[in-house]
Amino acid sequence: MPYYRVVGEVPRKRHVQFRRPDGGLYAEELMGEEGFSSDSSLLYHRHLPTAIVKAEAVTPTAGARLEPNLPLSPRHFRTQELSSAGDLVTGRMLLAGNGDVRLSYAVSDRPSELYRNSMGDECVYVQRGTVRFESTYGVIEAGEGDYVVIPTGTIHRWVPDGQVSVLAIEAGGHIRPPRRYLSQHGQFLEHAPYCERDLRAPAEPFVVEGEEVPVLVRTRGGLTRLVYRNHPFDVVGWDGCLYPFAFNINDFEPIVKKTHAPPPVHQTFEGPGFVVCSFCPRPLDYHPEAIPIPYNHHNVDSDEFMFYAGGDYSARKGSGIDVGSVSLHPAGFTHGPQPGAVEAVIEAVGRGVTTTSEMAVMVDTFRPLDLGPAALSCEDPAYAWTWAR
Ligand SMILES: [Fe+2]
Repeated sequence: MPYYRVVGEVPRKRHVQFRRPDGGLYAEELMGEEGFSSDSSLLYHRHLPTAIVKAEAVTPTAGARLEPNLPLSPRHFRTQELSSAGDLVTGRMLLAGNGDVRLSYAVSDRPSELYRNSMGDECVYVQRGTVRFESTYGVIEAGEGDYVVIPTGTIHRWVPDGQVSVLAIEAGGHIRPPRRYLSQHGQFLEHAPYCERDLRAPAEPFVVEGEEVPVLVRTRGGLTRLVYRNHPFDVVGWDGCLYPFAFNINDFEPIVKKTHAPPPVHQTFEGPGFVVCSFCPRPLDYHPEAIPIPYNHHNVDSDEFMFYAGGDYSARKGSGIDVGSVSLHPAGFTHGPQPGAVEAVIEAVGRGVTTTSEMAVMVDTFRPLDLGPAALSCEDPAYAWTWAR
């Protein structure tokens, strides 16, 4: 996934001579997952994608350390209180993470430098603002509610139009649509809550002239700044099934049941050791005696990280949760609606309320999430006790 796409000019056959107008050869580059054994794309560069003139180690900024969630408690972090320095890459404030995934929040109005994350795919959710995503594959104009999924190793940069806030999900592997929604050949099935038409990918090449262009590269070994002889945005065409794309949360088609449906119906992506779910405005459960908010639950194998992106959360009334909040409900703790929420929603249904306006992005991890310094700096210490009031 995603499906096959061709952008710009490519030769009729793979791995044959493809010449520039001046008679020289374009340089072919394969970007491929799992060695040569999974999705890939072939890109045609004006210049050698291998030509670097300098490499320098970059000292990571402070604030990347994680602490275990001890004593074990449910947590509430108020990202509304965070102010960031840097851009949408270097200004990421680490909220939580483990060996599989890192979850950060960033707010910025300045362009990032060129960046390549070689540790895994990224899924960047745009909470507010509009931003231009530029890459070797081309440009995606992104805005509020967009997930921008960036394959491992894609050289790119973010150019905000005004202030932009994002939740960055950095995986240790590849992020894909849930396998159960795809045919054996990768097409979205009819019961999937979104499909190919909802994905937006670069439509034309994006070529920038430049020499001695630095690219910040993240690997498992650390951060390096590689200086390329020519600007890496020199691709005149590419084709394949591996490329960045955007999907807007408003294009997710919620699946509703007569009685309350569990979060897997909201699943949007999966990655190694985690899933991403979209909670969107939708009709309430419609059994005449339904309780249309979650029941108390204990997901014994998961930590649940919920970013409240917009709307109204009736199940969380009295908890202090607001738009911009993050709740973390770890394995080892049973969570559910705040006291009085069930009675309140039954009463609201009695008054004729038939829809919920909630908008949230949830990341459930299968290994415990440790806490980042940014999260600890904006924690609401009263949250853990709000069910006992
Ligand atoms: Fe939950």
